[in-house]
Amino acid sequence: MKSVRSRSSSHYSHLVLLLCLMELELFHAAAEDIHTLTPGTVMNDFDYLWSPNELFRLKFFSVGESSNHYLGIEIIKFEKIVWVANRDNPFEDTSGVLNITEDGNLLLSNRHGIRITLNSESPAMSSNTSAILLDSGNLILKAGDQIVWQSSDHPSDTILSAMKLRLFAALNSRQPREHLLTSWISIAIAASGTFTLGVDPNKTNQLVIWLRGKLFWQSGNRNGHNFTYFPASGPFNDLESSNLKFSYISNGNGSYYTYSVPPNYISLFAINPTGEVHFFQGGNNKYSIWYLYCNAGEENGSKGCIDKKPSKCNSGYQFIQKYGYLESWEHLYNFSLALGDFKDMCINNCSCKAYGSLQTDGKGCRFSYDQILRYQNLRNLFTCATTAS
Ligand SMILES: *[C@@H]1O[C@H](CO)[C@@H](O)[C@H](O)[C@H]1NC(C)=O
Ligand SMILES: *[C@@H]1O[C@H](CO)[C@@H](O)[C@H](O)[C@H]1NC(C)=O
Ligand SMILES: *[C@@H]1O[C@H](CO)[C@@H](O)[C@H](O)[C@H]1NC(C)=O
Ligand SMILES: *[C@@H]1O[C@H](CO)[C@@H](O)[C@H](O)[C@H]1NC(C)=O
Ligand SMILES: *[C@@H]1O[C@H](CO)[C@@H](O)[C@H](O)[C@H]1NC(C)=O
Ligand SMILES: *[C@@H]1O[C@H](CO)[C@@H](O)[C@H](O)[C@H]1NC(C)=O
Ligand SMILES: *[C@@H]1O[C@H](CO)[C@@H](O)[C@H](O)[C@H]1NC(C)=O
Ligand SMILES: *[C@@H]1O[C@H](CO)[C@@H](O)[C@H](O)[C@H]1NC(C)=O
Repeated sequence: MKSVRSRSSSHYSHLVLLLCLMELELFHAAAEDIHTLTPGTVMNDFDYLWSPNELFRLKFFSVGESSNHYLGIEIIKFEKIVWVANRDNPFEDTSGVLNITEDGNLLLSNRHGIRITLNSESPAMSSNTSAILLDSGNLILKAGDQIVWQSSDHPSDTILSAMKLRLFAALNSRQPREHLLTSWISIAIAASGTFTLGVDPNKTNQLVIWLRGKLFWQSGNRNGHNFTYFPASGPFNDLESSNLKFSYISNGNGSYYTYSVPPNYISLFAINPTGEVHFFQGGNNKYSIWYLYCNAGEENGSKGCIDKKPSKCNSGYQFIQKYGYLESWEHLYNFSLALGDFKDMCINNCSCKAYGSLQTDGKGCRFSYDQILRYQNLRNLFTCATTAS
């Protein structure tokens, strides 16, 4: 009896497995691996546009349970999105397509009327264009050998080797005026968030992080390979032994930083939603991640941190993440703001005790001016370190 039952359940599980495999097969049949986008080819939601050695791919994605759907470039080695085409115009479903229009432009559109011409600032002069993704992570639209548009001129939150972090360009140049990195709102929402990273306009060999236009962090002077406020254990203080070549260029075309790495070596810098700079690097299947940031407890002026005003929080700038419950909250439903803004607002209000996001995807904000009473499961809640007990 027992054995019959177990056999039938094993038949059943075989059937389920078979159905799953069939579904995977169907799913797979629907997805296309594209290497070149030409007029007439359409990249649908489940398709990938691959770089020649499959180091990068262009794909449609959402993070977690977020309903925001984007087109972005993923670096395969770090499974990280490095560029987003429609960060401020997310799709809500999988109806997005990327194609080349009859007049040679790169068009991202969906069923609900969103139409984004990616190269709108530099329209194609030819209808015979094609788009490819390079192994450097750069998506280019080209007409013959001429590059019409490239994604590396429009960075999101990440700089890849050979990209430029630029301040300005000469007036007669068709190059964009600035290349700044702008953090996402939260890990799930790619919309422009709190922090930007770029070159200091007053002292163009210094890097700066702004919080909504306010100076937040500076790298300090660059001496040789080094920056004053880069951590001693970081990649820059060890440039000769590491493989990065970081260079500062200032000429008629502008001032910018760029860096290069040897072949087969992958690296990136990204500014995350809370203002930390992450550095990923990797040669043969090994990689490390470094962090550069303005630490919560840092004094004004130390480690490049700027204008740290005293806060009512007993431990100064130190907020710690808690699972907590607070008696009364004030809610703020501005979904263009991010955790970095909430922290800044809380620090600047002497009676603020805690802040957190309203929704698990990082949208919206709550503040409390209360003592913590008891705990419950609330994600993304940060409180003054010494207030909670
Ligand atoms: C590209 O997509 C747009 C919008 O969906 C459509 O109007 C156009 O005909 C497509 N172009 C090609 C060449 O398929
Ligand atoms: C279109 O471009 C391709 C590749 O650059 C070239 O081989 C082809 O001759 C061009 N076709 C026309 C009609 O110009
Ligand atoms: C550049 O100088 C202006 C005027 O002195 C100042 O307001 C601004 O904060 C400075 N920017 C940086 C990044 O230091
Ligand atoms: C970089 O700066 C750090 C801290 O100021 C210092 O310890 C280190 O020797 C410097 N490295 C180089 C290569 O200049
Ligand atoms: C500016 O950029 C153009 C195009 O890349 C280049 O030909 C030119 O030499 C550059 N100018 C300077 C001063 O480097
Ligand atoms: C912090 O330092 C900056 C520049 O280093 C200065 O302008 C600012 O007044 C300082 N803030 C405080 C609170 O000391
Ligand atoms: C929401 O925040 C953004 C970013 O600071 C700001 O530009 C916008 O005016 C705010 N919206 C409202 C309704 O306050
Ligand atoms: C601090 O927050 C309280 C409560 O919302 C508010 O009444 C007060 O105006 C805020 N103070 C500042 C300086 O923003």
